[in-house]
Amino acid sequence: MVVLRFPPDERRMEDADAIRAALAPLGIDYERWTLDRVPADATAEQVLAAYADEIDEMKRRGGYVTVDVIDVQPGTPNLEVMLAKFDKEHTHSEDEVRFILSGRGIFFLALGERVASVEVGPGDMLRVPRGTRHWFTLCEDRRIRAIRWFQDTAGWTPHYTGSGIDRGYVPLCFGPAYLGPRATTTISA
Ligand SMILES: [Fe+2]
Repeated sequence: MVVLRFPPDERRMEDADAIRAALAPLGIDYERWTLDRVPADATAEQVLAAYADEIDEMKRRGGYVTVDVIDVQPGTPNLEVMLAKFDKEHTHSEDEVRFILSGRGIFFLALGERVASVEVGPGDMLRVPRGTRHWFTLCEDRRIRAIRWFQDTAGWTPHYTGSGIDRGYVPLCFGPAYLGPRATTTISA
């Protein structure tokens, strides 16, 4: 499930083809992968083994050389410090590719004069091309587990734009705390 807010539109979309069609014009690749390969408590190694075919195919398509599984929970040490690295507008010199295993988060993507917010959850595979101005934060439950692909073995580094645009956006996820479409009045073009 993806919630796409791209002012003046807000769409909550369940259908994978519809999501793909909505995100493709924005330059964002989207796929829906099944989640039934591994139990929720699978280790990172089990996850990587279970999705080996998809992982290798993605490596071929994007020239990615390494993958890992990131696991963030409310009890993760230095969680706020970690989140603060990515909740300010930045770019990367490589793609940001994520397959969400559990938890939810929002990518804010600065596209021309508008900002799209794309809320992703379990089963969503998203590829944000290198150079795209964006920022990311977790939803209220502060939880995400995802496979990440990297093109550079040194890992990926945020290059901050310093625009401050991110300060005008409130990360409202579609969850228990969701206030409905009126909440998007906090999100402006
Ligand atoms: Fe990023």
